[in-house]
Amino acid sequence: MRLFIFACIALGHRAIATGVSGEAFGMATGTTGGGSATAAAPSDTAELESWLSDDVARVILIDKAFDFTDSLGTTTGSGCYQDCDVAQGGQDYIGTLSCSGSTMTALSDIEYYAAGASPLLVGSNKSIVGVGTEGVIKGRGLRVYGATNVIIQNVFVTDINPEHVWGGDAITIQEADKVWIDHCKFSLIGRQMIVTGYDAAGHVTISNNEFDGNTDWSATCNRQHYWTLLLLGAKDYCTFYGNYLHDLSGRAPHYGTTDNDATNVFHAVNNYFENMAGHAFDIGPNTWSLIEGNVFSNVTTPMTADSTEQDSAIFNVLSGSTSECASVIGRDCVENEVIDNSGSLTGVSDTTALTYLAEAGTEYIMSASSTSDVASSAKANAGIGKV
Ligand SMILES: *[C@@H]1O[C@H](CO)[C@@H](O)[C@H](O)[C@H]1NC(C)=O
Ligand SMILES: *[C@@H]1O[C@H](CO)[C@@H](O)[C@H](O)[C@H]1NC(C)=O
Repeated sequence: MRLFIFACIALGHRAIATGVSGEAFGMATGTTGGGSATAAAPSDTAELESWLSDDVARVILIDKAFDFTDSLGTTTGSGCYQDCDVAQGGQDYIGTLSCSGSTMTALSDIEYYAAGASPLLVGSNKSIVGVGTEGVIKGRGLRVYGATNVIIQNVFVTDINPEHVWGGDAITIQEADKVWIDHCKFSLIGRQMIVTGYDAAGHVTISNNEFDGNTDWSATCNRQHYWTLLLLGAKDYCTFYGNYLHDLSGRAPHYGTTDNDATNVFHAVNNYFENMAGHAFDIGPNTWSLIEGNVFSNVTTPMTADSTEQDSAIFNVLSGSTSECASVIGRDCVENEVIDNSGSLTGVSDTTALTYLAEAGTEYIMSASSTSDVASSAKANAGIGKV
């Protein structure tokens, strides 16, 4: 203890990070990342890229801003915009895929950074850990692809072609298992902040992250980011805990899969949704949800109407019915709360959702707290510089 205190004093305010803080919980329980490998900071973007993708178990310290923005130069493509263009606070859409429809205006010369659309590959057995508030990856996202056992903690991923839809995602999880994304922050991303699918994403815990939707380029033309989380994997077991989502206008989160053999589950616990002129939950088929202990403050649409019409089930009560959970998951569920001019949340108490959650493994079901401290706790703990 005395030695530890001395080291802190000697290093002044410089944070000493030697690796991951805490242990993975929820669906990603057992995820160890680079384990006990010696922590080291890459010297530049090229070394970071190589360490992320090689076959070596690593604890990679992100101790400064690694700026990939112009690392692959710029490229030009055609596309379109809808409603408002980039100069008026909108986003344009690279490529012609989504350009049909009378409200779309074609563009022939969209210039964007090539790096944004070419994410960094992340291999198995990696811990990617930000140091203090210094850990920033800019201009290029992370793609956990064909890999297992990855921890991304205390990293700020930002500024990936924010003017352009299809300009890049912050974190992609595909053909994976055991991924823990904890205490990260996301802002100014062209497309999704976190995306999975259509392959299996496996067991994933997304905890204590800040999803900051403030932007000058909004697909919904209201300075709020629309593309938050899109989880479409055919085998997704997700715990979504303690996150702070704000100033967003959609897909916060969207999940569901068209794979009718899937038994996906989504357990949302104690998240805080604030100031959203759009929707939070948008749920598709074949994913069973327990949504408990969450607070929606000044959120226009806490859950889309379509969410309750899907071939899957939801348990998300606002009051009562919580004791129905005890016989299925061994404890009562926790009520959600909708406050401060939010739209209504349709409360559903379909215990089939709990059955699927229990079948995924009771060891993966984390506990939930009441909503009383959720707002203050999410604001105090979510994002970078807090571990
Ligand atoms: C990851 O670590 C596990 C356990 O040590 C090992 O079996 C596996 O081969 C490693 N994977 C890679 C790609 O290094
Ligand atoms: C509610 O959220 C909107 C953005 O969606 C924001 O402009 C407004 O100021 C918020 N209201 C309050 C009382 O915070």
